[in-house]
Formats: sequence, C-alpha cells, structure tokens
Amino acid sequence: MNITLRQLQVFEKVARRLSFTHAAQELYLTQPAVSMQIKLLEENLGLPLLERLGRKLYLTEAGKEIYRLSRNIANELQETEQILEQIKGTEGGCLTISVVSTVHYFAIHALADFCKSFPKVRIDLKVTNRQGLLRLLEENATDLALMGKPPADWDLIAEPFMDNPLVVIAPPRHPLHTRTKIPLKKLERETFLIREQGSGTRGAVESFFNKKGLSISSSMEMNTNTAIIHGVAEGLGLGIVSLHTIRRELDDGRLVILDVESFPLMRKWYLAHRSGKKLSRAAEAFKTFVRERAWEFTNPADTQKGQGSDTPPPASGKR
Ligand code: PGA
Repeated sequence: MNITLRQLQVFEKVARRLSFTHAAQELYLTQPAVSMQIKLLEENLGLPLLERLGRKLYLTEAGKEIYRLSRNIANELQETEQILEQIKGTEGGCLTISVVSTVHYFAIHALADFCKSFPKVRIDLKVTNRQGLLRLLEENATDLALMGKPPADWDLIAEPFMDNPLVVIAPPRHPLHTRTKIPLKKLERETFLIREQGSGTRGAVESFFNKKGLSISSSMEMNTNTAIIHGVAEGLGLGIVSLHTIRRELDDGRLVILDVESFPLMRKWYLAHRSGKKLSRAAEAFKTFVRERAWEFTNPADTQKGQGSDTPPPASGKR
C-alpha cells in the first residue's frame, strides 16, 4: 500500500461527516482538494471507499476498514501530541471538549475565563446533542464531555458539577402566566415546541411525562434551544428548557416561567471522560477549573427555583 498520512487524515474527516463539504470546512481546504486526496487514496488502494446513492454518501466495505484505520491513527497521533506537550512542560496543548447544546452557554463563559489563565491552550469545542456527544465519546474523539447524566453501563469517569433545572416557559401574555401550582394535567391541552430525537432534554421530559401517565402534544420539533426559546417568545407554543439557557429572555421580559406542579425538573450536568483516557495537562486543568468554579457561573436564584438540589457547592465556591 502506498498511501499517505495526509490522505488518511482527509479520508477520516470525510468518512466521519459523510460529507466532502463539511470535511473541507474542518480542514480549511477547498472541496476539490479534498476530492483529489480521496481519489488518490482510492487509486493507491485500488478500491472505491465511498459510494453516492441518490444525494447521500456511504462508506463501502473497504471504506469502513480504512475509516477504522484512519480513526485509530488520528487518536494515536492526538494522544502522542498531548504526551509530547506534557513532556515539553509547556502550558500549551489542545483541549478537545464536547458539550451538549444546553451546556454551551455555561461552557463558553467557563472557557473565556479558563483562557485568561491558560492563554496558550488551543481549544476545540464541539456542541451537539446527547446522542451526538455519546458518539464522540465512543469514538474517543473528545477529551472531556459536559453532559446530562451519562448512561450507567458506560465505562466513564463522571461527576456532577452543576444543577440543571428544567422549567416550563411561556410568553408573558400567556393565560397561564398568572396561575400558581398549575396541575400537570392542564399541560395536556397546551402545544409544545420540543427538541429533536436524541436530545437529553427531550428524553428527560418524555420520561417524566410517561412516568406521570401523561402525554404532551408537540406542534413543532426544533433542533436547537435557541429556536425553541425564540419560538416560545413568538407565541408558537410552550417549551421546556434548562433554566440556564434563558437568563437574558427572563431579564428582558420576553419569557416567563410557569409555576407548574412538580417543576422544575431537577437534572444535573456531569463532567465526564472515558475511563483510561490519557488526559492532557490542559484537559486536567479544565477539569479542576470546572470542578472548583462552576458555582461562580450559577445564578443563586436558579438554585432557589430548582429546589431539591443535592449538588453541594465546593467550599471555595462563591454563590
Ligand atoms: P441536549 O442535552 O442538549 O441533548 O438536550 C441536555 C442534557 O442532556 O442535559
């Protein structure tokens, strides 16, 4: 085989995203440059690696094998790079962190502060939903993950770092706004904007209503919190979102929280990584940062609204 590392790196990106366009964007290359690398790789191997059926791209059997090889090489290279950074004893290196979409508001604040202390660290932040994040952990494509409760049967090191209260939101003109202790049953008559399949928020909401023997109807499915928040503010329906994602809208009066029985639903955010993962110094430093300082990013009012919390603030944490 006369294949090059560069060809494998390009193929790995195309195969992971099943898209030449996304791979080109990630690699800062033009699409023809990406296509050329793939063509050369296929010629060197004497086998097609990708096939296009309709508008979708698929891996051939040989493509799946080469994808496995290219992923292993990419992981090995990344780990070696991190170990070399540690050996060099610099404060640089790369922090690859993946977060579920609701956490990204917190993650951006935290990273902004973290970068003041570690300005040389290169940050690679991926924002996705729960399903996407689990895939990244499975592929060993992230150092750290900030997420809802990790699956119990996964071999992960995980610790809770912040409460994540889910609240029912409405526009201020909604008739239920002034009601207190709204019975859950009343929500069955309302229309909801809900997150996509694979979202942790959606999973939590569905399992809560299932347990209560109730079902809520959805008018629209939306794959970002931002879209739901705007949709609710525009009067398209009610939403159930993390309290941490609506500070601005509550402050400027575009949204209100409804006082619904059993709400807020108390969830937690976890800091997680694969057990056995060789964390870079940057990742270790960020882990300590989140553990010690998450409370600085929590609005004290949130904890009052989210009664029933059992995540204690660290002794050093400001509240
Ligand atoms: P989501 O995750 O962004 O997938 O809804 C939130 C969570 O699991 O807490």
